[in-house]
Amino acid sequence: MTAERSGDEESRWSQRQGGERSEEDRVAAASEFDVERSQGAPAFDDAELEELIAEAGGGGEEDEEDEEDYYNEEPDELDEEGVPFDDYAFIEKICKEGYYTEEEARELVLERRHWPEWSYLRLDEEERIAGKRALVTGGAGFIGSHVAELLLERGYRVLVVDDLSSGRIENVPDGAMFEKMNLVDDVRAFQLAYHFCPDYVFHLAAQASVTVSVQSPFMDFFPNVVGTFNVLEGARSRNSRFVFASTGGALYGEDAPLPTNEDFPPDPLSPYGIGKLCCEIYTTHWARLYECPNTVLRLANVYGPRQNPHGEAGVVAIFSQALRNGEAPRIYGDGEQTRDYIHVRDVAAAFVAAAERPSPGVYNVGTGVQTSVNRLWELLQGVSGRSVTAQHMPPRMGELRRSALDATRMREAFGWEPKVGLEEGLAETYAYYTGGLPSAGR
Ligand SMILES: NC(=O)c1ccc[n+]([C@@H]2O[C@H](COP(=O)([O-])OP(=O)(O)OC[C@H]3O[C@@H](n4cnc5c(N)ncnc54)[C@H](O)[C@@H]3O)[C@@H](O)[C@H]2O)c1
Repeated sequence: MTAERSGDEESRWSQRQGGERSEEDRVAAASEFDVERSQGAPAFDDAELEELIAEAGGGGEEDEEDEEDYYNEEPDELDEEGVPFDDYAFIEKICKEGYYTEEEARELVLERRHWPEWSYLRLDEEERIAGKRALVTGGAGFIGSHVAELLLERGYRVLVVDDLSSGRIENVPDGAMFEKMNLVDDVRAFQLAYHFCPDYVFHLAAQASVTVSVQSPFMDFFPNVVGTFNVLEGARSRNSRFVFASTGGALYGEDAPLPTNEDFPPDPLSPYGIGKLCCEIYTTHWARLYECPNTVLRLANVYGPRQNPHGEAGVVAIFSQALRNGEAPRIYGDGEQTRDYIHVRDVAAAFVAAAERPSPGVYNVGTGVQTSVNRLWELLQGVSGRSVTAQHMPPRMGELRRSALDATRMREAFGWEPKVGLEEGLAETYAYYTGGLPSAGR
């Protein structure tokens, strides 16, 4: 299967072997690529993609036996470092984008040679045309795992990417492919979009705690801002529909009218909110500048099974666990501070609706209803049939007093409606924490 290289290619390749590409070359290559993409051209046209699939080991016409052979077989011809000659064109292609030096690209190929994900390039014709490949970052986390689950139910082929920093492998639904990968440290993240060729990118990976962001802004900035930028660029390279999980609860300030709509100017109170706003601007600006089909969803306080108690709306998980253990939870201040609690299944439905009916823009995802912490505690005691006296603590600095989101724009654009009532959702969540509901998958 050795690819023949033309004389021209051979000499370009030899020149490269001779040394690092100059800064000038890299900038020129990157701008050439950017110009192509800013004119709406996808990273690969169909012929190029066919070529890549062929280079990676074939297309969809092989039978199962051939496919097995592909994984078991060593490539025929390797260069002195073990890089298959067949991968030279691929290396050249990714260097051209300017993200990789040749050395890095060769390392990438060496490392990945036996990984099953090379099979992402081996989608058969039907799958490529069906256009139902979704990449879900943060899919081992609370909300991302529900998004992945719904996509699978709807017949999508799903790749979950997560570094498991707060997510859990058990959350990744059966049937989804999984890659443990850090979107910041791992330069390979840029390549994901090429390997899997996603039609949709749902970006939910993040450091999701407001408190952590205040205590250690660095720990927020890198995953949330740099990580988002990396994924956004990956999505752009394939012209994938990008849906970004932003926040409504941590974005609008104290003076916002309630329920707040998207036109009210954001005034974030925390590094977490600042990072989300910054990424919203990248996302929406990229949509205009590069004509990318990008959408931002500003989520209210999401609750439900598989919730991480340290996230933005961890209170429902914390209260449920306290009730299960018969312990008194802490309520800060007078407990009359309000939030807009929305069930995670409604949020997953919002992500899928926003992707399937693309209408780039910024949308609130909430119920518009305010519920106080005291009321929430009362409701949870009701659904659990248990009664515990909460412990009242001094108010926390910088905590927003009231919050609720007006989701009219979301309703009108996508026909989306929240369906799960608060009591019903709390009962389900409590059952999950007391062992009544199974986790998603593995
Ligand atoms: N939970 C809420 O109420 C709420 C509200 C508004 C917005 N959001 C946003 O929704 C998204 C999902 O939140 P969640 O509550 O499911 O949080 P979560 O912590 O359960 O999920 C986040 C996932 O991202 C992964 N992750 C973190 N950093 C990563 C990195 N550098 N590389 C790869 N993976 C990484 C984590 O391991 C985790 O699985 C986040 O972007 C969050 O900011 C959540």
